[in-house]
Amino acid sequence: AKVSFHHNDGNVDVLDVDPGTSLMRAAVTNGVAGIVGECGGQAMCATCHVYVRPEYLDGLPEISEDEEEMLECTADPRDEDRSRLGCQIKAGEGFDEIEVDVPASQI
Ligand code: FES
Repeated sequence: AKVSFHHNDGNVDVLDVDPGTSLMRAAVTNGVAGIVGECGGQAMCATCHVYVRPEYLDGLPEISEDEEEMLECTADPRDEDRSRLGCQIKAGEGFDEIEVDVPASQI
């Protein structure tokens, strides 16, 4: 899946992500700035917070209870509609292409 990470400075990282790989894992592996993934993808740290662009929200998996809790602990404010944990969104699950905005801070 094609995944675009938009940064506040206007830069964009575009990755080709294998099915089953999370946005967080793909970002960390490829050195995308602003995605930390401290807990390794357990929905326990919120340092993989992303804002999904509205046109890609449809079809994404529901927010689990664990994700819901962590979304209350993000460094940058949660956006009720667009905030997700990057570790809980996996390529091939609900999208062929997705664009997200990377928060200014994660810690
Ligand atoms: Fe920790 Fe996603 S990597 S919550």
